[in-house]
Amino acid sequence: MLERFELKVGVGIALLALSCSNKKPDSDKAAGAGTTAAAAAPESAGQAAGAEQGGANAKFNPRLLRRFKAVSGRFETGPAPSEAEIKLGRMLYYEKRLSKNQDLSCNSCHDLSHYGVDGEATSAGFKGQRGARNSPTVYHAAGYFAQFWDGRAASVEEQAKGPIANPIEMASSGDAAVRVLKSIPEYPKLFATAFPGEADPVTFDNVGRAIGAFERGLSTPSRWDKYLSGDNSALNATEVEGLRVFTNIGCMVCHTGEFLGANSYQKVGSVEPWPNQKDQGRFSVTKSESDRMMFKVPSLRNIEKTAPYFHDGSATTLEDAVRMMGKHQLGLELSEAEVTSVVAWLKTLTGEIPRDYIAAPELPNSTKDTPVPSGG
Ligand code: HEC
Ligand code: HEC
Repeated sequence: MLERFELKVGVGIALLALSCSNKKPDSDKAAGAGTTAAAAAPESAGQAAGAEQGGANAKFNPRLLRRFKAVSGRFETGPAPSEAEIKLGRMLYYEKRLSKNQDLSCNSCHDLSHYGVDGEATSAGFKGQRGARNSPTVYHAAGYFAQFWDGRAASVEEQAKGPIANPIEMASSGDAAVRVLKSIPEYPKLFATAFPGEADPVTFDNVGRAIGAFERGLSTPSRWDKYLSGDNSALNATEVEGLRVFTNIGCMVCHTGEFLGANSYQKVGSVEPWPNQKDQGRFSVTKSESDRMMFKVPSLRNIEKTAPYFHDGSATTLEDAVRMMGKHQLGLELSEAEVTSVVAWLKTLTGEIPRDYIAAPELPNSTKDTPVPSGG
């Protein structure tokens, strides 16, 4: 077991220097704001034993816990949206008529009753066409520092317009979506209530705003949040051991904060090249050489439920995903015991789905003016 390590992530590239001494780590030095790792070796043999045998009473080094954060109920960056706006956003989230063939909604690829994913390596969009990337969960996405695997949208409001107009996703356009909505008399009324004072409230921008307002309430607090708020009995001994391994070997360098990720871009394959080099990640957005293979570090919340893993869907089990991370991000061959405990801890990040908030709403009927599906 590695007792000490130090990680530096310079300009987004992780440089690793691993050493196997038993020295007590200088955790303050190692705790640079999101760029360096906490050297999380147990402070003493006694504490290590405590983590392994302490059962419900095992407590993790509280200094390290400060690097994480309990999840909040809603993620707002501005004034909270009205109930009317959220209600409209929920309807639009489930509205298949926003797609060209009127057979796909946001929920088709981000099924809210299945933790916001479709369970596929890559998603089937318009006429079953496959995109190149795995669909990430929409739970908590509103709180991320950027949207998409490559960060090309800043907010959920901006993001939501993307798939509607994407030719291999919903394959429609802003104009077509607005035409459909204006042809169903209930919608202009709902838009007018959600965006009071606007002369022509049914706009593509407001579609994005309403969907975003709904997404800002997609949060799933879990046992991990109870633990973070001081309830030591929320995690059992194996789970605390998994947390100890996770922080000890360096996973926490990249997976920190409220979402255990989603707060930086990092190179996938930072130590050992990623097997699949087809998708170069953020390079496609910036065209900067230093962004090759840089991806947004994904959140680990609900990770138990969002297989398959990685931007390319290349890992089917959580155990495999953890092993691949050890190998490619840290240059470590993890033992079975390490993998098992880390996975046990990761499962404590599984939260409860907000059934009432996500309940599929009734949608108003089409009229004779509503454009018909096309391209099926
Ligand atoms: C055909 C499947 C499909 C449909 C339909 C779809 N998405 Fe996605 N969504 C994806 C994929 C694939 C990605 C990742 C794409 C990328 O990163 O380039 C994604 C990314 C996202 C993200 C970013 C999450 C993150 O972790 O960065 C959000 C939020 C999101 N979609 C919301 C929506 C909303 C809202 C709608 C409806 C307006 C929608 N999606 C429709 C497949 C889909
Ligand atoms: C140097 C940064 C870095 C380190 C260290 C790191 N990760 Fe990751 N992690 C990433 C990035 C970047 C991705 C996205 C990779 C991709 O999809 O291509 C990722 C993806 C994942 C995923 C898949 C998430 C999903 O939604 O598909 C899991 C699970 C994961 N990491 C767990 C771990 C564990 C466990 C460790 C420690 C053994 C670890 N990571 C160490 C950066 C890192």
